[in-house]
Amino acid sequence: MTSADLLSQIRLHGVVPRHVAIIMDGNGRWARERMLPRPVGHRHGMKAVREVVEGALEVGLEALSLFAFSQENWQRPPGEVSALMSLLEEYIQAEADSLHEQGVRVQVLGDIDRLVPAARAAVDRVVAQTAGNAKLTLNLFISYGARAELTRAARLLAEDVAAGRIAADQVDEAAFASKLYTQGCPDPDLLIRTSGEQRISNFMLWQVAYAELFLSPVLWPDFSRSNLYEAILDFQQRDRRFGKVAV
Ligand code: IPE
Ligand code: IPE
Ligand code: MG
Repeated sequence: MTSADLLSQIRLHGVVPRHVAIIMDGNGRWARERMLPRPVGHRHGMKAVREVVEGALEVGLEALSLFAFSQENWQRPPGEVSALMSLLEEYIQAEADSLHEQGVRVQVLGDIDRLVPAARAAVDRVVAQTAGNAKLTLNLFISYGARAELTRAARLLAEDVAAGRIAADQVDEAAFASKLYTQGCPDPDLLIRTSGEQRISNFMLWQVAYAELFLSPVLWPDFSRSNLYEAILDFQQRDRRFGKVAV
């Protein structure tokens, strides 16, 4: 089936996920299969990012979350880390205007103080440029770890309690969620991981509580708009019960 056919199938089914999150994995293996250096795999991964952003706009998602660089990824060899930082900057330079024209609001989630100054400046620029857009929220998770995000939320709440801004018994799920980087964004309905790995790798631990999982064998640089549509079609067949009995 062509991507246009898949898209019309999705439309026939009606209900689309509001929020899709993707653990973009397999760039290194893609490069190794071709006897190329790992950064070449990351570069080809940018094409897949364009594909899924366009797909998300076509389908009409509210939010697309992409795990681009984890807190743990800082432990990779310095050459690979700096290649990834340069690619981040390059992606933003190349795409910012077109994302803005298409009504995409870009948010960057993670410990961005650790970014090199040039990447940090690019991030700040695109976030400011697109802040007023509302068609699609594109969450880029960079220097992100879910446990760090949860710990930060606990710390912020503790500070609020210590300062008397809220009472301890007002710390409920909504208060907690409001301190996460994703505050204001609906939880992901669908979580995709590429490259055949079957783990969460410290991604959005709070937010994926009831996400449907889709594990794709495709290595990230080969992931296409059609692959996204197939995942969404699969999602549309799922029976989401949220712990209740199906009626
Ligand atoms: C995903 O690809 C990109 C990042 C984690 C930055 P990998 O670089 O993890 O590729 P593999 O898993 O080694 O194939
Ligand atoms: C998860 O992929 C992080 C990103 C996709 C950015 P990794 O390749 O870093 O995860 P592990 O090491 O296989 O769990
Ligand atoms: Mg990997």
